[in-house]
Amino acid sequence: MLSLVVLISGSGSNARALLDAAAEPRAQFRVIAVGADNSAPGLAHAAEFGIPTFVVSPGDFANRGDWGSALLERINEATAGESEEVLVVCAGFMRILPAHVVHALTPHLINMHPALLPLYPGAHAVADALADGATVTGATVHIVDEGVDTGPVIRQIEVPIEPADTKDSLHERIKQVERELIVAVVNDIARHDITLKEIART
Ligand code: GAR
Repeated sequence: MLSLVVLISGSGSNARALLDAAAEPRAQFRVIAVGADNSAPGLAHAAEFGIPTFVVSPGDFANRGDWGSALLERINEATAGESEEVLVVCAGFMRILPAHVVHALTPHLINMHPALLPLYPGAHAVADALADGATVTGATVHIVDEGVDTGPVIRQIEVPIEPADTKDSLHERIKQVERELIVAVVNDIARHDITLKEIART
């Protein structure tokens, strides 16, 4: 069975979707830890399921590199002794991982992004799509590489933008799509219908 470490920064609705799916009787994956870069409200979802959590805040470290090393250490602690395959899922994790962390984990390191990458990378994807006057945006799951939202795309789903949309209304509709998308992609990885090494090579 595939073992997940999920990283979050905020409300954790995508993490919740993964926790719910992992609790299904026929689940093909389990969540072994949920980590965050702050005391994120979404960590409460993990606690509800009795899943261990950890927080590694950049403010507690002298530089990004040290923060990344500490985060990697916590991920490695969580996965120590795992004989199963491990996947790290950034599900609303609003930090750029230092290169040495990416190298240690990729291609078993995926990210969820609220836009049709390569359009609108970065932390303001929903606002950027609206400001651009786009009529369609969407959600992407991709393998994390050293860049900002530049890694190989695993799967995308379009979301139409309505004329009356605000940033919040559009983001909420994208998140509804994201929750299904992330669970479907993780299931496909667990079943080996998706091979991350192959996608990373393309
Ligand atoms: C999601 O829309 C996710 O795509 C986005 O943060 C939201 C987290 O929602 N991630 C990024 O923007 C990463 N660049 P959640 O905390 O409710 O899962």
